[in-house]
Amino acid sequence: MCVAIYPGSFDPVTNGHLDIVRRAEKLFNRVIVAVASTPRKSHLFTPQERVELLSRSLRHASLDRSPLYSTWIDSFDGLLTDYAKRIGATVIIRGLRAVADFEFEFQFTLANRDMDPTLEFVHLMTGKDNLYTSSSLVREIAHFGGDVSRFVPPPVKEALERKYGKRSDQGA
Ligand code: COA
Repeated sequence: MCVAIYPGSFDPVTNGHLDIVRRAEKLFNRVIVAVASTPRKSHLFTPQERVELLSRSLRHASLDRSPLYSTWIDSFDGLLTDYAKRIGATVIIRGLRAVADFEFEFQFTLANRDMDPTLEFVHLMTGKDNLYTSSSLVREIAHFGGDVSRFVPPPVKEALERKYGKRSDQGA
């Protein structure tokens, strides 16, 4: 059985991430969407909140009712390679949007492969509707009271409104 991890900070999950999950579950027996934290970023949502939002978003998108559904949600601390070994995963899935992602992904893949040469990395291209979506873009739009419904599933939109407060309620 081929177990694949789709790791990310998912702060918060966007429609682009859901698109990758949809594609990944066609390819692997089990996909573990794994929430991680990275010292490179400060996070808006706690790991628990990010896991909860992922789970509600997958449910909302009816992904959990798809006949192919084989996705679990988890979180981990520490190195991705250690986590993969611990749960017996052999594949890491990464989403690719624009060319700009390539340099980071190249470095990320090679560094992880150095740490564990048994892991394979599969890069899936995001659908064109989500090519420029990112979690920080969504956070910034929400922070200033903009409409993020084009970028995120409704449970995330509601969570962002709760986090930042609804600007319209404040008369902004
Ligand atoms: N659609 C929309 N947005 C997408 C996307 C898609 N398909 N794929 C990625 N993104 C966005 C994310 O929202 C994120 O946006 P942000 O930078 O504005 O927050 C950005 O692209 C990068 O996301 P991602 O590819 O998930 O990387 P990340 O920096 O959020 O997470 C980890 C990286 C957590 C997977 C990585 O740091 C890790 O493995 N950490 C564990 C520790 C470790 O092993 N480190 C060694 C690394 S060599």
